[in-house]
Amino acid sequence: MKNNLSITDYYRCEILKPPSFGIVVFGASGHLAYNKLFPSLFGLYKKGIIKNNFFIVGTGRSNYDDSSFRNRIENSIKSKFPNVEDRLIGDFCINVYYINGNYEDTYYYENIKGRLKQLTECYKTGGNIIYHLATPPFLFETIIYKLIKSSLITKDKDKNYFERLMVEKPFGLDFESCKELNKVILRNLNDNQIFRIDHYLGKSTVQNILVFKFANTLFHDLWNKKNIEYVFIKFKEREGVEERQEYFDNTGLLRDIFQNHILQLVALIAMEKPESFSAENIQKQKNKIFKSIAPFEKNVINKNILLGQYNGYRQRSKEFEKSCIETFFFTRLFINNRNWKNVPFYILAGKKMDVDETSITVVFKREKKCLLCEGDNLNNKNAITFKIKPSQGVSIRFVGKVPGAKLCTGSFNMEFNYKDVFGNEMIEDYESVILECLYGDHTIFWDKEGVEYSWKILQPLLEKLNNCPLEEKNKTLKIYEPGSEGPIEIINFIKDNGWNL
Ligand code: BG6
Repeated sequence: MKNNLSITDYYRCEILKPPSFGIVVFGASGHLAYNKLFPSLFGLYKKGIIKNNFFIVGTGRSNYDDSSFRNRIENSIKSKFPNVEDRLIGDFCINVYYINGNYEDTYYYENIKGRLKQLTECYKTGGNIIYHLATPPFLFETIIYKLIKSSLITKDKDKNYFERLMVEKPFGLDFESCKELNKVILRNLNDNQIFRIDHYLGKSTVQNILVFKFANTLFHDLWNKKNIEYVFIKFKEREGVEERQEYFDNTGLLRDIFQNHILQLVALIAMEKPESFSAENIQKQKNKIFKSIAPFEKNVINKNILLGQYNGYRQRSKEFEKSCIETFFFTRLFINNRNWKNVPFYILAGKKMDVDETSITVVFKREKKCLLCEGDNLNNKNAITFKIKPSQGVSIRFVGKVPGAKLCTGSFNMEFNYKDVFGNEMIEDYESVILECLYGDHTIFWDKEGVEYSWKILQPLLEKLNNCPLEEKNKTLKIYEPGSEGPIEIINFIKDNGWNL
């Protein structure tokens, strides 16, 4: 008989084979394509989910031809899959092509069109095509406009094939540019052709938040302000901005992760049960949360938000020596609805920090009259931690009896780790993103309304930062040492704000 506590029964999710397709990756020589997209496309190939029914066209300003680009992709795959046979990588790379050109140039799009015509016939993809925009965000509008103008993508009207657009984050650089981007797209295409990416939604550990909340009667009645004291989201990375500094310096950590990954995590933790698990119903519930989050006020810096930059950021090149862009923030937000009123969501995020850790901890209140609680020890409170990266799983903290004659108690953790159960069967985030786009399912993507609301929350703060003179910005930005826990000012910041952590 199995030990009940260690049963790990599960239904294996059947992964449907997607239809034949072509994918055109704009920004194909960039960091994202190298580190995530191509390895993920290969990951799907290696798992047998996509076979010989696809082609990939990388495109961008860098000067490659098919052969030199394939070499680059081989290297990117080998660095992620060091033990995979060269033959398998070679077989995959035969399906990869490259076109170079200038994003503004009409001729470039004509060139793409000609090549796609040949490849569509050769691979018999029936015209199914995805355009994946993995360029810096300021290029999105130009590329989309040109794709539409050159009829590479047209409105979906009773076609028996698909033409889809996947757009990376950040979708816009502020509320106005996001609205404008939505307008340009929706004037010419149907909303169901657009897939606004947030790769965090492709992570099984993130998708697990909803399942955990709604499939376990044990927890879902407790999920509200009556029982929850606070939520703490950590997004700490040991890496700095390295070769992405040019992109990052125009973006900053608030645009890079707060507007998207963090707000999605907040929404998943806080949203109510949808009528069904359809994309539309899930987004509807998430949007209610976005609308209930009070936007930042203009004068919150150093009051409700601490911004930092790691030491050495400015020294990497002359171009950045005066940069005041934030690589760290610590803040708190509230959701003004009946379930969450007055429950703080603390968010601490930074580059070049002491550890790699993305997690969400939901800390529960203690009983008012707690017979077995000694002192005010934080560890005596129940807590559920969703571990997103690098550990992947859930940990539950509970109070238990310490062996011995007296009624001594201790705080213990129950752990579930995805890797222990599923090992290498895990589907990576970008594998999910690509697959769901191929299936035409929007569940793990932003919708128009949600993405616009997310910018509204940040907008007053972005305006304040944009219009702030350099000296003032410099004063507010706290410098911290690489490999540390962030600016030393954190301790006083927490104290001055009266945060009860
Ligand atoms: C990206 C950000 O969206 O997410 C990066 O642009 C960040 O700055 C990355 O490092 C983190 O993603 P992951 O999947 O490695 O946790």
